[in-house]
Amino acid sequence: MNNKTAKAYPTKTFFVTMITRDITFEDCIFDLIDNSVDGASRSEGKHPINLDNRADLSKYRISIVASSDKFSITDNCGGMTLNDAADHAFSFGRRASKAYDAYSIGVYGIGMKRAAFKLGRRINVRSTFTDTDDSRTTFAVPIDVTEWLSNDDPLWDFDIDDAEHLDENGVEVVVQKLTREAQTALGNPGFIENLRRMIARDYSLYLKRGLNILINNQVIKGMPIELRKSDDIVPMRDNYEDELEDEGSPEDNRVSVEIIAGMAAPPPESTEPDEKIDGEKGFGWYVVCNGRIVLAADKSAVSGWGTSDWPQWHRQYTGFIGIVLFTASNAAALPLTTTKRSVDVSSNIFIGARLRMRDASKRWIAYTNARKYNLANAKKKEDKAAVISIQNVENQPTIQLPMIPKKRIERRANVHYSVPVSKMKQLAKGFGSIQMPYREVGLKSFEYAYEDLVEDE
Ligand SMILES: Nc1ncnc2c1ncn2[C@@H]1O[C@H](COP(=O)(O)OP(=O)(O)OP(=O)(O)O)[C@@H](O)[C@H]1O
Ligand SMILES: [Mg+2]
Repeated sequence: MNNKTAKAYPTKTFFVTMITRDITFEDCIFDLIDNSVDGASRSEGKHPINLDNRADLSKYRISIVASSDKFSITDNCGGMTLNDAADHAFSFGRRASKAYDAYSIGVYGIGMKRAAFKLGRRINVRSTFTDTDDSRTTFAVPIDVTEWLSNDDPLWDFDIDDAEHLDENGVEVVVQKLTREAQTALGNPGFIENLRRMIARDYSLYLKRGLNILINNQVIKGMPIELRKSDDIVPMRDNYEDELEDEGSPEDNRVSVEIIAGMAAPPPESTEPDEKIDGEKGFGWYVVCNGRIVLAADKSAVSGWGTSDWPQWHRQYTGFIGIVLFTASNAAALPLTTTKRSVDVSSNIFIGARLRMRDASKRWIAYTNARKYNLANAKKKEDKAAVISIQNVENQPTIQLPMIPKKRIERRANVHYSVPVSKMKQLAKGFGSIQMPYREVGLKSFEYAYEDLVEDE
C-alpha cells in the first residue's frame, strides 16, 4: 500500500466559472432579491407567505441600479450580522449544521456568490445591522475575484473590513469590473425592461404586501393575478398538507399546498391560426414556492400539458390560469430547482399536486370544447363574470363552469389554402376593398361560387 491520498477538494475556478454557467443574469439578480426578501421576512418574524398572509412589508425597499459598468443592489431589510458573514454567508453551499430560516426562499447557500461571480470581478458586500448590544455595526467583504483565483491553494476565506454605515440597516452588494456578457446585458434597455416585467410578475405576492422594489430608481408595480367569477363560473381553491419523502423529521419535510384555478379571461372566439387573439402569454400554470413565483404561465410538460391523459397546450385553452402554492418552513422540502426558475418534477410533493392540477385543466379543456357548439350562449355567460383577485377566491374543491346547452349544428368544414398575395389583393379589390381580410375574401368567394353553381341550379 502506498500512503498517497487522492485529492478531492474543489477548485476556486469551479465555483467562479462552472456554477455560473447554467443560470441567466435575470435569475442571478433574482437570487440577490430573494436574499433581501428573506431579510425582510426575518425582520418581520418569519410568517408563511401564502395568500392569507397579511404582513405589511411597505417599510422594506430593495433598490437595484444597473448599467454597463456597475451593478448594485441595496436593501433596508435588516442586514446580515457579522456572525452570519463569518460563519456561513460566504461559504459555498449550506453547512449541514446551519439551522434553516423558517419560510425562506434561500436554501442551497450558493445564490449570492454565484450571482456576484456571474456579474463581475470586483465585488463588495456591505452590511449594517444592530448588534446584540444595540449598537449599529457595519462591515464590508471586498472580493477581488482575479486575485482570489490566482492562488488556488486554500485559504478560501475573504477578509472582513470595517466600513461606513449604510443609511439604514441592510445589505448592499456592489459589483464592478463587469464580465463582458454582463456589460452587454445590463447596458441593454431591453434587458432592463424584461427584468422589470419579470420582477413585477414573480414577486407579485410580496409586492402586493407592500414591498418596494426599484430598478434604476423606478418603482415596480406588481402584476395582479386575477380570475373571473359569477353564479356559473367559480374558480377552485383547495389546500392540503403533504410531506416530502426524504430523511429528516416530518416537521422538516412538511409542505402546505394550495391550488387555485379558473377562468382568467374568456377563451378566444376562433382558434384559426390566422385569427388575431389577445395573446396567450399570461395563461397557463404558475408555481409559487414560499411566495416566489418560480414557474410562470407554463404550457409545457413541466406543469403536465402533453403528458399522459392530458393534451398538449392549444390556443383554444387560452383564458385559463392555475396557481399552485407550495409553502414550507424548511425551504429544502420545496420542489425547487437550484436556479429557482422551474420545479423539480421528480419531487413527490409536485407529482401529488400535478394530479389535482390535471383535474382542473381537464375541466377547462372540456368547457372550451363544449362552448364551441353554442358560442353565443357561452359568451353571454362569460360576460357576466366579474374580475376577482386570487386572494379573494373562496374555498371550492373544483372549478365550476357554465353548462352550455348544445345547439344542433351542422358539421363544419374548415378550409385552408394559400394563393399569391397579389391575386388575393386583386380579388379583395373586386369585392370592394383592398383592405378586406383574407378570411373574408375566402368566405365571399365561397358564397359567390355557391350562389352561382349550387343555388342557381
Ligand atoms: N440581503 C441580505 N440580507 C441579509 N442576509 C443576507 C443577504 N444576502 C445574503 N445574506 C446572508 O447570506 C447567506 C448566503 O446567501 P446565499 O444567497 O449565498 O445563500 P442562501 O440564500 O442561504 O441559499 P440559496 O443558494 O438558495 O440562495 C444567507 O443565508 C443570509 O444569511
Ligand atoms: Mg440566497
